[in-house]
Amino acid sequence: MLSGVEVRPLHDEAELSFIVGIEREVFGELAWTQDMLIKEYESPGSQIMVLRYGDRVIGYLIFRKFIDEVEVLRFAVSPNYQGRGYGRLLFKKFLEEMKKSEIKNIYLEVSPTNFRAIRIYESEGFKKIGRRKNYYSNGEDALVLNLKIGG
Ligand SMILES: CC(C)(COP(=O)(O)OP(=O)(O)OC[C@H]1O[C@@H](n2cnc3c(N)ncnc32)[C@H](O)[C@@H]1OP(=O)(O)O)[C@@H](O)C(=O)NCCC(=O)NCCS
Repeated sequence: MLSGVEVRPLHDEAELSFIVGIEREVFGELAWTQDMLIKEYESPGSQIMVLRYGDRVIGYLIFRKFIDEVEVLRFAVSPNYQGRGYGRLLFKKFLEEMKKSEIKNIYLEVSPTNFRAIRIYESEGFKKIGRRKNYYSNGEDALVLNLKIGG
């Protein structure tokens, strides 16, 4: 089922357009716009990994490196492709890349009710290290998760 997919760094503006579309579908009014995505991409340490399926991008992960730490800023799979293992595959690829690099800590925030994402993170060894009150616009808290690499 997962054949024909490829994970690699963002390549061009056509790929960015797919991300803009997925942002809208997945995050609605909280979606990042094309300008916001470009601004993030141009920030020091920022990188975007895309999951390609045939000639389209069906998922992406945006992260920012600072010395030996990484923060995951965005992680999504197109709704039409969710629940079929693509998110796990993309996240595993991302971790493989981080483990090959100088990175020692990965941090991310997740809603306590986002069971699908939490399942991926916890099964990859992430631990809860904190909680940010009223983090999301609907008033929900965020869990802060951390993975230590090689420590
Ligand atoms: C989170 C997201 C990227 C995961 O991608 P996905 O392709 O849908 O996920 P997968 O199909 O790889 O499934 C991941 C795991 O969740 C499990 N899962 C699915 N629905 C679940 C549910 N309701 N409760 C608990 N686990 C669930 C799956 O069984 C799978 O675990 P397994 O591999 O051990 O069987 C995707 O759902 C998404 O884009 N969600 C909206 C945006 C978002 O929430 N991003 C993360 C922000 S922190």
